[in-house]
Amino acid sequence: MEKIDKRKDAHIDICLEEDVQYKSGAGFEDIELLHNALPEINMDEVNTQIKFLGKTLDAPFIFSAMTGGTSRGHEINKKLAKAAQEENIALQLGSSRPMLEDKEKSKYYKLRDIAPDIPIIANVGAAQLGQYDAKKLREMLDEIGADALAVHLNALQECVQGEGERDFAGVFSNISNVCKKMGKPVILKETGAGIHAGVAQKLFEAGAKYVESSGAGGSSWSKVEYKRGGRVEGFEEWGYLSSAAIAEISPLGNCIASGGLRSGIDVAKGICLGAKMGAAAMPFLRAEKARENVEKWKNQLKTAMFLCGAKDLDELSRAPALVMGRTAQILRLRGIDPAGFAQRSVEEKKKNKKNPTHYL
Ligand SMILES: Cc1cc2nc3c(=O)[nH]c(=O)nc-3n(C[C@H](O)[C@H](O)[C@H](O)COP(=O)(O)O)c2cc1C
Repeated sequence: MEKIDKRKDAHIDICLEEDVQYKSGAGFEDIELLHNALPEINMDEVNTQIKFLGKTLDAPFIFSAMTGGTSRGHEINKKLAKAAQEENIALQLGSSRPMLEDKEKSKYYKLRDIAPDIPIIANVGAAQLGQYDAKKLREMLDEIGADALAVHLNALQECVQGEGERDFAGVFSNISNVCKKMGKPVILKETGAGIHAGVAQKLFEAGAKYVESSGAGGSSWSKVEYKRGGRVEGFEEWGYLSSAAIAEISPLGNCIASGGLRSGIDVAKGICLGAKMGAAAMPFLRAEKARENVEKWKNQLKTAMFLCGAKDLDELSRAPALVMGRTAQILRLRGIDPAGFAQRSVEEKKKNKKNPTHYL
C-alpha cells in the first residue's frame, strides 16, 4: 500500500516539475474553425450549457482524473472540487484503488461537503476490475457520492511502469459485467494514448455511457513512467492522435474529448469534431488558480462559438471546420473524409445525427 502511495505522489511531482508532454502535438493545431463574418447572433445569448449525468453544467468541461488516496492528493482534489463547484463543471477523481484496498483511505475521496451539486466521477483501472465486482464498486461510488464510474484503459502505462500489470486478458468481459450490473453510468477512458473506433465500438456495445478519448498529444504516461525508471524504451510518442480519436469515436456514441486540450478553443474544436464534453488534466494540476483557468476557457469557448455563428453546443457540433495536416491524413486512412467537416453548415440540421462525418 505504501508503494502505491509513493507512486501516486511521485506521479504528481513528475507532472508538476518535468516536461512529460508529447512533442508531436495533439492535432488541434490541424483544426481551424471556419470564421463566420456574419454570425447574426448576440454574443450575450451564446449558451454553453450542457446536461451531463443528469445535471445541467455551465460549460462542457471536466477536470479529468488525476489523483486521490493520499493526503496530498486529497488537498489537490479539494481545490479542484471547490473550483468545479463554483464554476459548475464536472470533476473526475483519480483512481480509487487505494480506497478499495484500504477502507481508511475513503476519507481522501469524500468531497461532497465542498462540491454538493456537480457531477463527481470515480475512477478505477480496467486491469484491476477482476479484483472488484460490480457490487463493491457500487458501494464505493455510494460511499463517496459519485454519479458515475470511469474505468481507465492504460496498457501503455502499465507496460512501461516497472511494477505495471501486463495481464489484460479478460478485461473486456469484466468491463461488460460492470457496465451491466453496477446500476450507474460507466465511462471508459484511456490515460493519454487514445482510443480508436474499433475499441470504442466494443465499449459502447458493452454498455459504456461515454467514451473519453484521452488521445496522444498531451500528457505522456510513458514519459512519466520513464522518469520513475520505466522498463521499455522508445514509447515516448506512442499513441493514437487526440484529434483523430475524437472524430472516430463521436459517430459511434457519446464522446468526451481529452488528451492535450489546452484551451477553451481546443474544447470548441473537440465539440466540432463531434464530442459532447471536453476534459483536461495537466493544465488544471499546474494551474495556480484552477477557477481563473476555467473562466478563461469558458470565455474562449463562448467567443469561438460566436465567431462560428453557433448559439449553442448543438450548433457548434455542426459548424464547419477545416481539418488539415496530420489529422486529415490519418482520418483519410481510417476512411473518414475530412471534407465532410468543411462543407457542412450550422443551419443545416444533420440528416443523421449519429454520423456527423462523411465517410469515404
Ligand atoms: C497527475 C496525473 C495523474 C493521473 N491519474 C489518473 C488516474 O488515476 N486515472 C485515470 O484514468 N487517468 C489519470 N490521469 C490521466 C488523465 O486523466 C488524462 O487522461 C491524461 O492526462 C491526458 O489528459 P491531459 O493531456 O489533459 O493531461 C492522470 C493524469 C495526471 C496528469
